Order: sequence, then C-alpha cells, then structure tokens
Amino acid sequence: MAAPAEIQNHSTSAAEKQVLQLDRSDLIVTRAWIANKRVQSSDARTFPVENPADGSLIAEVADCGSAEAKAAADAAHRAFASWRKILAKERAAHLQSWLTQVKKNQEDLARLISIEQGKPLTESRAEVAYGAAYIEWFAEEAKRAYGDIIPETAPGRKIIVTREPVGVAAAITPWNFPIAMLARKIAPALAAGCTIVAKPAEDTPLSALALALLAAEAGIPEGVVNVVPASRKNAGAVADVWLNDERVRKLSFTGSTAVGKHLAQASASTLKRLSLELGGNAPFIVFEDADLDRAIKGMIAAKFRNAGQTCICANRIYIADAIYDEFAERAVQAVANLRVGPAGGDAEIGPLINARALVKVERHVADAVEHGARVLIGGKRHALGRYFYEPTVLVDVDSSMVLSCEETFGPVAPLFRFHTEEEAISAANSTPFGLAAYFYSRDIARVMRVSAALESGMVGINEAAISTEVAPFGGVKDSGYGREGSPYGMDEYLQTKYLCLGGLS
Ligand code: SIN
Repeated sequence: MAAPAEIQNHSTSAAEKQVLQLDRSDLIVTRAWIANKRVQSSDARTFPVENPADGSLIAEVADCGSAEAKAAADAAHRAFASWRKILAKERAAHLQSWLTQVKKNQEDLARLISIEQGKPLTESRAEVAYGAAYIEWFAEEAKRAYGDIIPETAPGRKIIVTREPVGVAAAITPWNFPIAMLARKIAPALAAGCTIVAKPAEDTPLSALALALLAAEAGIPEGVVNVVPASRKNAGAVADVWLNDERVRKLSFTGSTAVGKHLAQASASTLKRLSLELGGNAPFIVFEDADLDRAIKGMIAAKFRNAGQTCICANRIYIADAIYDEFAERAVQAVANLRVGPAGGDAEIGPLINARALVKVERHVADAVEHGARVLIGGKRHALGRYFYEPTVLVDVDSSMVLSCEETFGPVAPLFRFHTEEEAISAANSTPFGLAAYFYSRDIARVMRVSAALESGMVGINEAAISTEVAPFGGVKDSGYGREGSPYGMDEYLQTKYLCLGGLS
C-alpha cells in the first residue's frame, strides 16, 4: 500500500530525546547475532530502522538473507547437542542469569522499545516487565518437564513416558511487543532444552538484538540464541531457509493470519511443530447489567493499549441498547483525557508504527463514516503529524462496515448496538477469528452462558488485562493454534517419548 504523500514529520524535542538516551549505547547491535558473535550480512546490505514518532534514523541494521539464516541454523543445531543434555537446573540457572541481565538493563530496554516502536515509556517499561516475567516463569518451569509412569499391562514391564526437547526452534516475532513476544518464545524453548533462531520484525530489530546480547552476557552458550534481522524484502528468504531445513523442528510465529497460513503450508514438507498466534478481531460486549465504571475502564485498556496495536485489542465494542447512549457519552469523556505524544514525554498514546498502519486506520474510519457511522471524538490524524492518529469513538456502527470484519490495529473505538444476549453472541462470533473476547455482566448465569458460547481462545470477564505469563495465551479458528505462557506454553517445545521396558520379572 502506498504511503500517504502528505505525511508531516513531527520533530521530537531535545528534552524528549534526552529521556530516551541509552545508558549503554553498546546495547544497540546492528548486525545479526549468531553463535554469540555480531555477523554482517554477506553482501553488507543494511536497512534503516527509524523512530516512528519523528522519522529520525536510529540505526542501519544488517539486512540478512539465506546465508545468515543458514549460519544461524547451523549454530543452533551445533549448540542443541550439548544444550539438551545439560541438567534442567543448569538451564534454569542460565535463564535466571538472563533475567538478571534484563532487569539490570530494564530502563535501557524500555527506551529502546520506545525509540523503535514508538510506545510511551510507561508502556515500554511494562512490556520489559512482562517479557521478564516469561523468562522468570520458564526458568522455574525448566525443572518441571515431568514425564509419567503408566501402570504396566503385563508382568515384568514398566511403561515410562519421558519429555524431550523438540530440537532447534524458529521464532518469527512482531513489532508491537518486540521484547515480550520474543521472550515468551525463547524462554520456554530454552527451558525445554531447545535452541533457537529468531527473526524479529523489520520495524523493531534492535530490541531483539539487545535481548540476544544480554543472553550472551548472562553466559548462555554460543548458538543457543541466534537473531537474524532482515528487511521486509528479505524476510521471506530468511524464513524459507528455516522452513525447508529439517533440523529446524519447530516454528513459533506471531503475526497476521495470511502469513501464518503461508508458513503452515510452506513448513508442511518438513512437518514442523507449529505455534501460530495470528490476527484477532476481539469483541468487547457490555450487557445492561454491567458495572459501567469498570466497563469503561476496561474498554480504554483493551482498546487503547499500545495505541490499539495489539492482537487482543477490542476491535468491535457491542453495547446493550439500554445503556448505549450513556456508554458512548462516558467513552468520549474517557477518550478525551488520553494524552497523545512521543514516547519521551508523558503521553499515553504514541504514534502508529508506520505509514501503512496509518492508511489502514484512515481507510476504516472513512468507510465507517461513508456507511453511516458518526464520529463523536477524533476521526483524523493528530496535529502532531507523522503517524499520530487521534483517539476516536464512532457510534452507529454496524456489520456493513469494514472495521467489523478487519482488525483496525489503531486507536479507534467503534460502538455497535445490540438488543439481546443471543444477538450479541452471534455478532461476536461472526468472524473467522477467535483470539480474545471480553464481556461485562454481573449476572452469574449469563457469565457462564456467554463464556461457553464465545468462540475464542481467551475470554476476559469483567476484566480487560488478561495477558500474563502464568496463563495460556492463544486462539482458535483463524487466530491460530498453540499456546504461549504457562505449562501449556512449555508443551509446545517438548515431544513425548514412550519407553516400554520389559524383562523385569
Ligand atoms: C499480541 O498483540 O500479539 C500480544 C499481546 C499480549 O501479549 O498481551
């Protein structure tokens, strides 16, 4: 999609820039990280990484391709032979040391996220803590990859079930949580005894590379964690190498459904284990018996986190007819208080990630208005220019509009009206996606009915902040399969082996 020609650059002030200065400038790694070494791309190509708030160049990063992808897989394969054999408690200790490094450098990591991703510093700090929580949780879980003993079916036999690491794992991660999404793939992989090759999104490779550097500083052996950055143009070449390499036994991907389906097809010839955390189109339903204060707070959290750029952001907000007007009025008041700005200030909403994202949000709003929606607040680019978009509330939204069936991934809250519980459930489920869903009600029978009826992998009931390392994150239908976080997330990196031991009597 073409970038809008008339985008104006916001100029970040010196004070804002100062807040985002790293204490450790060496955390900015601009080459691939393979076998604990910085590796330039074979033909010295680079691609620019820019701050989405002001367009300033942060770094030129190695634009890798098939040669570096293969080198990373070679390194991970070599390292797997010894990493899988060390004691689980030693792997746990390595993960704990990595956690210590991440915590020691947490402020710099948060600044790095803000610089390349644009989210406000408070959100970046929360993201680093969220990513660190996965490392901590899986460091503990490394010691609990238990097997089983099954009662024998014949005398003199033992039936033993063991869990083994699947092998080298590949991770392809998105730009919206550049640290947390990678940490929640690397940590369970390493805990299980797998080694990893990772390709971060082209918009945000620096956070991932810093995470790999810190893993090396924590003493994690060479080849266990490898990161291969690539531009949008070369990303396919990197992925293709891993998809076709039989030594890479597992792929974990977070991103769009279209790319997820392509990866599933392309990895079929090597029958890889897959975890696919794909697109969402989360419904957020407020019934007439809901606690409205809580529902408004929840809507702001579920809709406007990361400027609306999360896979579990509320995309369709269904409000019961009896409370529709009151909810709309209170939503506008709450949205009016959201501060928009660059990450170094006191903003709560940062810029969108790039011009494509901005154009998509504009297209969704224009289409909704064309089909009869009304803008109560926002509805246009922010005066700050660049990729900033005003937090928006739309009313009189219906299913004829594009934003009802596509993920907007921006700060736009569209309010749909419903009359009955059945109508709300049917509308919520009328999407191919099924990642997260939210609803607000104080009627316990309704809570149980609606939770069971919603077709989604995760349901927030009177709760919008559902992400946590202790629970299984993942979807159903076109939102993918596989889970991240919790013991279910560890299972994705383990395979089951059955031993039948005879001749014991
Ligand atoms: C995502 O947007 O894919 C992840 C969001 C989260 O973990 O909360």
